[in-house]
Amino acid sequence: MNFKNIFISIIFATAMVVAAFLINRARPVVEISQPRPEYVRATGKCASCHLHETSAIVHQYSFSKHAKINVTCYECHRVQEGQAEFVHKGFTLAQELTALNCAQCHSTEYDQFLRSRHAAPAWAAVSGSEGFSAEQIAYAEKYHPGSVMRSANQLAIVQGEGVMEKGCLACHSVGKPNADGSIGTCTACHARHSTSIALARQPETCGQCHMGPDHSQLEIYNESKHGVLFALQRDRINLDASPKNLTTRDMPVPTCATCHMSGLEGMNVTHDVTERLSWWLFSPVSKKRPNYNLGQEAMKNTCLKCHAKTHVEEFYREAEIVVHSTNEKVQKSLDLMTELRKEGLLTPEPFDEPIEFIAFDLWHYYGRTAKHGAFMGGADFVQWHGNYELLLKMVEMEEIAKSLRGKSISETK
Ligand code: HEC
Ligand code: HEC
Ligand code: HEC
Ligand code: HEC
Ligand code: HEC
Ligand code: HEC
Ligand code: HEC
Ligand code: HEC
Repeated sequence: MNFKNIFISIIFATAMVVAAFLINRARPVVEISQPRPEYVRATGKCASCHLHETSAIVHQYSFSKHAKINVTCYECHRVQEGQAEFVHKGFTLAQELTALNCAQCHSTEYDQFLRSRHAAPAWAAVSGSEGFSAEQIAYAEKYHPGSVMRSANQLAIVQGEGVMEKGCLACHSVGKPNADGSIGTCTACHARHSTSIALARQPETCGQCHMGPDHSQLEIYNESKHGVLFALQRDRINLDASPKNLTTRDMPVPTCATCHMSGLEGMNVTHDVTERLSWWLFSPVSKKRPNYNLGQEAMKNTCLKCHAKTHVEEFYREAEIVVHSTNEKVQKSLDLMTELRKEGLLTPEPFDEPIEFIAFDLWHYYGRTAKHGAFMGGADFVQWHGNYELLLKMVEMEEIAKSLRGKSISETK
């Protein structure tokens, strides 16, 4: 081989390498980052084709426990009893996925979820009992009297359709009645394809719905010692630890999930978020729940994994004082409204007079905030966003009542 031939070969080889590089660079990214063979096997045709279509879904799925243990795309997407189907690239799939698709393998979690206020009561709080079967209503009423057997929410109706769908129901759809006869969705906390427990343990996940002035749980948590410490240590906390053996070493600081759901140090995991509660704090005037003792004991057992008994008892004692004093303040405002109605000074329609909004804000924003703050460590919410406003709103209501009464006396003269 002479020098000229060697030179041509080198040029040619280099050109080939450069060309290959350029061609490769022009290819879509999804083709270069081919999935690992083991999980193409696991998910079959769906994943290899969907890596060209909606590739992010395949990547999300690849992070999940399901991908590691070969729960395939098809197993979630296949048709369950009562579901509408469609034929897709040779597969028959469910048109809409619901909690039923998860319940085929996770019936324990689904049954716990069904008992909670995240199921039927959440939807009925906005839309009333419509859409639920007689059995579903009876089941929910057994655990939560009055929670489903009720009419659609008046404030939602006054505000109109668009608001209901994109507002109220965007949060309350966690308990939607599905066409297949199941209730609700599991993906509100786990997401559809990463189906992550780490995600469900993030305070922000619950905070998608549990925020704002009427239920400031996320804001209260962020203010609390727990929230601040979690923000500092979250990188060192093992959010992926299996619920079956979650220890205080994995999570030495609690998030929403730890207190309300987790199987910390041998406790049972629960998808019934009602299980560890003892008061109906969301009510205008809070009463004890029927399972007051059991609920409180369950929550205190969680605290006791990290705190001493005296500390926890003192905490509850003080929080319950806030419940009683808030009840008195709210009751006073409700009594005033009842009197004004009796005196014929208000129309029978809800939400058409300023004082009705003040009375509503009084318990719905400030009363709740004070109580929630007391139970979850939010001093500013007990005081400035709570009790200060309770005082102010009561003074405003009394002023309006005085002027309504004054007007009615001068009219009758
Ligand atoms: C040969 C390619 C191919 C295969 C195989 C395939 N899909 Fe698809 N799939 C597509 C395309 C293309 C779309 C449309 C994407 C879009 O609308 O942007 C789609 C859409 C979908 C949708 C959304 C349907 C809708 O309109 O709401 C789902 C769900 C879905 N696929 C699931 C699956 C599952 C599960 C499997 C395996 C059982 C699968 N696909 C197999 C190509 C494929
Ligand atoms: C753990 C169950 C589960 C697994 C496993 C799963 N999916 Fe899904 N997927 C869902 C759910 C739930 C939805 C939402 C469906 C709905 O709203 O009707 C969904 C929606 C989709 C959509 C429509 C998404 C959109 O936003 O438009 C596509 C496409 C899809 N899945 C493809 C796949 C593919 C491909 C795989 C496997 C790589 C897969 N899925 C694995 C549960 C799953
Ligand atoms: C075909 C059966 C099957 C289906 C369908 C299924 N899963 Fe799973 N899932 C499993 C198995 C098996 C495990 C592993 C259980 C274990 O490790 O104890 C699991 C684990 C999980 C975990 C724990 C993940 C972790 O990191 O430990 C979550 C959360 C979960 N699934 C949620 C869902 C949701 C939500 C759906 C529906 C959208 C769903 N699953 C559908 C079988 C299934
Ligand atoms: C940002 C999400 C979100 C939106 C939007 C929302 N809610 Fe709620 N709602 C919640 C959460 C979270 C609770 C639970 C509060 C608690 O227990 O402290 C709740 C509680 C309630 C309750 C009290 C519980 C019960 O069962 O009686 C009613 C009633 C209610 N919401 C109705 C509505 C109506 C009506 C709308 C729209 C006008 C609406 N919500 C908008 C998240 C939301
Ligand atoms: C998609 C919105 C949504 C998400 C996400 C959500 N919730 Fe809720 N939650 C609600 C609604 C709506 C209610 C009120 C149901 C009712 O009483 O009508 C509620 C009620 C509750 C209650 C009170 C139950 C009772 O019996 O009064 C607790 C506790 C709770 N949620 C905890 C959590 C925790 C912890 C998380 C996160 C792991 C979470 N929620 C995530 C919407 C949500
Ligand atoms: C340190 C434990 C702890 C943490 C962390 C925590 N909570 Fe709570 N939560 C409680 C206690 C205690 C109560 C009052 C229980 C009772 O009724 O006896 C409560 C009450 C509630 C209620 C009130 C239900 C009602 O009756 O109105 C909701 C909703 C709630 N928490 C959601 C959350 C959310 C969302 C987060 C995270 C942003 C969170 N919690 C963080 C302990 C905790
Ligand atoms: C309110 C948020 C929320 C909803 C809704 C929810 N989960 Fe979970 N889920 C969690 C949390 C938080 C954990 C982790 C508990 C822990 O820290 O021990 C979990 C854990 C799990 C696990 C692992 C349990 C174990 O013992 O290993 C499975 C499986 C699961 N969820 C399935 C479901 C299914 C199925 C649904 C629907 C019926 C659902 N989840 C709805 C928050 C939620
Ligand atoms: C997973 C562990 C864990 C759980 C569960 C837990 N806490 Fe804590 N809590 C902590 C840690 C850690 C601190 C910060 C302690 C420190 O300053 O050393 C803390 C701090 C506090 C503080 C503030 C103390 C101060 O003086 O600043 C209060 C009050 C408190 N917790 C009450 C509770 C109550 C009530 C419960 C149950 C409803 C609970 N905690 C559940 C870990 C936990």
